Amino acid sequence: MPDLNSFKKEALAQLIELLKIPSISTLPENKPDMDRAAAYIEAALQRAGMTRTELIHRAHHPLVYGEWLGAPGKPTLLLYGHYDVQPADPLEEWKSPPFEPEIRDNNIYARGATDDKGQTWILVKAVEWIMQRDGKLPINVKFLIEGEEESGGETIEKYVSEKPAQLAADAVVICDSEMFAEGMPTICTGLRGIVYGELAVQGARQDLHSGVYGGAAPNPIMAIAEILCALKDRDGHITIPGFYDRVLPPAPAEKEAWASLPFDEAAYLEKEVGSVALTGEPGFSVFDRTWARPTLEVHGIRGGFTGDGAKTVIPARAVAKLSMRLVADMRPEEAIAQLQEAVKNVTPRGVTAEFKLLHGAGPSLVDPDNSFIRESALAMEEVFGRKTVYMRSGGSIPIVGLFLTHMAMPSVLMGFGLPDDNLHSPNEKFHLPNFYQGIDAVIRYLERLGA
Ligand code: BES
Ligand code: ZN
Repeated sequence: MPDLNSFKKEALAQLIELLKIPSISTLPENKPDMDRAAAYIEAALQRAGMTRTELIHRAHHPLVYGEWLGAPGKPTLLLYGHYDVQPADPLEEWKSPPFEPEIRDNNIYARGATDDKGQTWILVKAVEWIMQRDGKLPINVKFLIEGEEESGGETIEKYVSEKPAQLAADAVVICDSEMFAEGMPTICTGLRGIVYGELAVQGARQDLHSGVYGGAAPNPIMAIAEILCALKDRDGHITIPGFYDRVLPPAPAEKEAWASLPFDEAAYLEKEVGSVALTGEPGFSVFDRTWARPTLEVHGIRGGFTGDGAKTVIPARAVAKLSMRLVADMRPEEAIAQLQEAVKNVTPRGVTAEFKLLHGAGPSLVDPDNSFIRESALAMEEVFGRKTVYMRSGGSIPIVGLFLTHMAMPSVLMGFGLPDDNLHSPNEKFHLPNFYQGIDAVIRYLERLGA
């Protein structure tokens, strides 16, 4: 049997192979890569000693399941991760190609390095290590690694609704979030929900000469701009009627915990955001704005002429990709209806506008006062030698809300990403010491839970 350090080196080599697979769940052309990545994970779960594994097919990409249930009377954990990644564009901004992993300055650079192949690998490898060392695990585990987290999660949602008993566990463990800062073990207690869709606007029957018809014909791109500006004011306050009705302010104890986090707004502006100023609702802190308030964002607008050179045209149609992030106790169906109603009321004359949903998921908030979270915090403290902090995150992991509401399973979000890991951006990376200490922390966590 190798020592733990050589085991970790070997784990990194295997992770590199996984990172080479461009498993972009949203792009149809990557379907074969999705299947390859799923098969790679299933084989890894078998190597880790799972007594039963399965590729589960429902909507688009397979779910990978694996179980080891040989510790009767001990707790059962559902270990969740995702093998799909976001598209890698703009490619020219990557210093090394997104699917040719490269190690520089103790970081591994690749799409999916931290979100979430590297972090999923922590769970797989921690379990494998204990199994190799002891021939058994201190607790029961069920792995559920999905391939649609970044694009809606239809398959997992169907499966969880169909077969809750198959997935029943005492808690869910997820490594797919961030540490507040390097060296600071962190548990994430809240995630925002999301509603993502397309706003399709139609003007004239076909594209028109902008000189001949400009002044009389409607312009769908202008209409999108007008609609967006009518939905959110210049202060970043969303004007959709009823939108904030269910927003709950963070509890006083939570606010207190956030106030003790070391946060330098100027450094955040310069190092993480890199714009000339921060934006958002006046009277709310950055933590409030990114963790506890809902948002409305536009991700792209397609329409008209976008090639080099000039073309004088009034486009007949345009599409904007939009999302809203939701916080407790907002509900996706209600937010969608409110948005659709608001769009109807602010659509300018001459065009039709329709919001079509691509995917939606509710927010989640867990009470950190449970033994699974406490043990995780203590395991990380042992490994990192520092007190664990609690934060929320503005991102979404769609299935977490369903695990909580549908199956009453709290999620333990012990994440090892760093704020500058460039998730969903060019030059995504994973800090190698976090990969290794993440493995140590999960090993200690399972040992503590089994003791
Ligand atoms: N790992 C992220 C979410 C995240 C990021 C949680 C940072 C905590 C800290 C996850 O993979 C993700 O990006 N989810 C998508 C979901 C969406 C496409 C449905 C997101 O939030 O945009
Ligand atoms: Zn992601």
